[in-house]
Amino acid sequence: MSYLPIQQLLKTAQIGTDVTVKGWVRTKRESKNAVFIALNDGSTINNIQVVAEAGQLPEETLKLITTGACLSVTGQLVASQGAGQAIEVKISAVTIYGPADPDKYPLQPKRHSLEFLREIAHLRPRTNTFSAILRIRHALAFAVHKYFNDNGFFYLNTPIITASDAEGAGEMFRVTTLDATKPPLTEEGNVDYSQDFFGRETNLTVSGQLEGELGALALGKIYTFGPTFRAENSNTTRHLAEFWMIEPEVAFNDLEDNMNLAEDFVKTVIRYALQHCADDLAFLDNRLKEEEKTKKKEEQSELGLLEKLQFVISNEFVRLTYTDAVEILVNSKPAKKGQFQYEVSWGVDLQSEHERYLVEKHFKKPVILTNYPRAIKAFYMKLDEESSTTPGQTVRAMDVLFPGIGEIIGGSQREDDFDKLVARMHEVGIEPEALWWYLDTRRFGSAPHAGFGLGFERLVLFVTGMGNIRDVIPFPRAPKTAEF
Ligand code: 4AD
Ligand code: MG
Repeated sequence: MSYLPIQQLLKTAQIGTDVTVKGWVRTKRESKNAVFIALNDGSTINNIQVVAEAGQLPEETLKLITTGACLSVTGQLVASQGAGQAIEVKISAVTIYGPADPDKYPLQPKRHSLEFLREIAHLRPRTNTFSAILRIRHALAFAVHKYFNDNGFFYLNTPIITASDAEGAGEMFRVTTLDATKPPLTEEGNVDYSQDFFGRETNLTVSGQLEGELGALALGKIYTFGPTFRAENSNTTRHLAEFWMIEPEVAFNDLEDNMNLAEDFVKTVIRYALQHCADDLAFLDNRLKEEEKTKKKEEQSELGLLEKLQFVISNEFVRLTYTDAVEILVNSKPAKKGQFQYEVSWGVDLQSEHERYLVEKHFKKPVILTNYPRAIKAFYMKLDEESSTTPGQTVRAMDVLFPGIGEIIGGSQREDDFDKLVARMHEVGIEPEALWWYLDTRRFGSAPHAGFGLGFERLVLFVTGMGNIRDVIPFPRAPKTAEF
């Protein structure tokens, strides 16, 4: 007899047919006449109820059917007498693949805290919340590839081990095979990386952008989608040390095209999740509503999860310059009452409290901020010359800010002028010789181009309505966190 995942079974199976279902026991309930077992196999948030008559199963078998045990059940699919499910399986045979000692199995049918579940990240995919998140994460990843494929982009795989610091922020994890206790030294007493595996100092990449640009200036439209590593010691709900980034890069695009692409891209993938993850999103929507009830009235969000997602895909993002944003912030109530922790003035890097004020209080919409001061942005961003108020002081940068998240996308038009790019590298202390291959694109057949990076986990955070980025990646990597 063929075996069907529960997701398919619930959709297609015919009443009266014999079926086999396999999965993990969520709950077992015994009444006078029958035993009811809720099975879940991870293919859907929905369980299948399997039912045995009282006395039908031997006592030893029944004892092993506890929460967490894995079973294969064969039986007839029948209309359910009870409320809560339309169909159920009348058991004719049970195989217990693996029991789960109820005194030791940490997942019991009750609400566990997210903090506790983080400590058992190896088992948390078996919960409703985490299986829903992981299925949505999958759908979003698929939607990302589909979006770019549908729009003529090529998937470019950029290296994970690299000798360059694309963002110039010095937050890299070293990759080495040298003996950590006795590394070879140069005459000056520094570590001699010429004896290392790659014959030079290498690190895990912080971004695939520089190689992405090489691809765009050959293939036209490319995107990367891969793991990214940052050794910044930020213990926040928005930062991971290992996260996945999606970086499209497009020849002949300017800043405006870049914004249009970013907005269309995020809206399209969110729409895909709404269409393909309805059950899981409804479950998380409910979960969030319950959680909101425990908060103070003024801290409760105005929109539910589904309403929020609908709102984002059906409204245009606000677009404004950094300079205009600073003016709004300087004149805002919290600034005047001294309620911001960090002061705002032209030239400072906006803190998340400022970004969230703009998005959640002032505009109540996603915002794309552009034309940031050059001093707070990366070397590769194109200088703004024609900008009237601050000529030469700003770059063609854009950050997309989302409610509850802050920055979800960072990108820019790239400096395509060889001399200006080299001058900027000197300014920020990057050796042009070290990036000779990158500069070759500006030496030979340079072209206007633009791109951005979307933090995949920040997108998943937004779509699932979760509050901590460590809960939207299966096995999070963060300071002092690398257990699983
Ligand atoms: O703004 P970032 O640093 O931009 C870049 O890396 C560019 N090279 C992108 C490009 O233009 N191709 O990072 C891009 C996005 C951020 O907006 C954020 O969503 C995410 O990556 N991000 C992180 N996500 C999780 N944990 C971290 N530590 C992150 N750092 C950045
Ligand atoms: Mg950024």
